[in-house]
Amino acid sequence: MSGLVGIGVGPGDPELVTLKAARLIGELPVLAHIGADGRASRARRIVADLIPPGIVELTADMPMRCAPQAAHPVYDNLADRIAAEIGKGRAVGFLCEGDPLLYGSFVAILDRLGSHVPVTVVPGITSVAAAAARTRHVLSSRDEVVTILPATAGTDRLEAALAAADSVALLKVGRHLPRIRALLEKAGLAAQAQVVTELGSPSESIQPLAKLEDERLPYFALILARRPRVSR
Ligand SMILES: C[S@@+](CC[C@H](N)C(=O)[O-])C[C@H]1O[C@@H](n2cnc3c(N)ncnc32)[C@H](O)[C@@H]1O
Repeated sequence: MSGLVGIGVGPGDPELVTLKAARLIGELPVLAHIGADGRASRARRIVADLIPPGIVELTADMPMRCAPQAAHPVYDNLADRIAAEIGKGRAVGFLCEGDPLLYGSFVAILDRLGSHVPVTVVPGITSVAAAAARTRHVLSSRDEVVTILPATAGTDRLEAALAAADSVALLKVGRHLPRIRALLEKAGLAAQAQVVTELGSPSESIQPLAKLEDERLPYFALILARRPRVSR
């Protein structure tokens, strides 16, 4: 293995780390990960027991409540340090919560280094798949259209996507909860919606959206909703 290796580590339960991810975490000489607001990354915490002592770790700290442009220098700096390690002949594993290519911070590193170094991606179990499994929520069946949406998108785009979907997973809900709740209600998707928070961690919770009184959700929370069908 050489170059940059994006490693998905699943959404929280260490037993949902693939055998391939576990093997590479134990073998690669350098691991990179991005924490937030001074805390180690969730990805690193998920696989902490698999990281051998004494390996090189490249870390970066992302301020969470900042303008999107403020993230650019953090990614630039980490990408430079990863490239320097790869230049010395060391493969670098980039730990990513869930799957690296689904809204993963790995994408920002891939954008910067993908055309300069060899890249391998190890898929991870997404928060969407794990939340569906945990709640026994059918994501889609037969000809149903299932859509994954970031709650941070504009209202018009969300409204159009929700109108066209039979089933949705909404990520990054956070402070957008009141707007998302109203859009799900308007689209006829709110009745059975489930809110899944901190999946795979000791503070995990699963609640029907209809019973939730909060005005915002933690960062690690998502909503699953499926349109009721008269006959299936
Ligand atoms: C930047 S995206 C990363 C998605 C991740 N790469 C994946 O494959 O699931 C972060 C969003 O994913 C969702 N998410 C990720 N992990 C989660 C978890 N353990 N519990 C609930 N939601 C989670 C939340 O909506 C969160 O805001």
